[in-house]
Amino acid sequence: MASAPDTASLLGTVPFFSSLDEKKRKSLVSEGKELSYKAGDIIVREGTMGVGFYLILDGKAEVRKGERILATLGRGQFFGEMSLIDELPRSADVIALSPTKCWALTSWAFAGLVRTNPEVALHMLKEMVKRVRAAQSSPTS
Ligand code: CMP
Repeated sequence: MASAPDTASLLGTVPFFSSLDEKKRKSLVSEGKELSYKAGDIIVREGTMGVGFYLILDGKAEVRKGERILATLGRGQFFGEMSLIDELPRSADVIALSPTKCWALTSWAFAGLVRTNPEVALHMLKEMVKRVRAAQSSPTS
């Protein structure tokens, strides 16, 4: 597992946190936790209550609803925000496609992050809008 300074510099390289200065990133790192998964591991299970927000630091994960693949996410992309925002069960499974390293925040830390960093919240909104548009143009939606 990478040390805290390594995680801070890794977070600095992903667009999600590019609006934060180094000091903020370092303090944020101490609030989260690095988690590693093997290919095939279910990171988030549809229908369960959400307790975490995940940012992929390395690897790839697939968002699946039953047989349907909704998206493939990679380094710098996030998942798990929906359930934390509306406090409803997870909308889909998220499964590691390869050895995958995530940085995870509790729902409590996630709420603090979006409340105190409007740039991060805006970045997340833009990505969520992109996902809605992709779902609208998908032939299976
Ligand atoms: P959540 O519902 O908490 O858990 C499953 C996650 O999959 C969800 O949050 C989103 O982060 C992600 N997700 C759900 N639907 C899509 C989609 N159409 N495209 C990309 N990611 C999605």
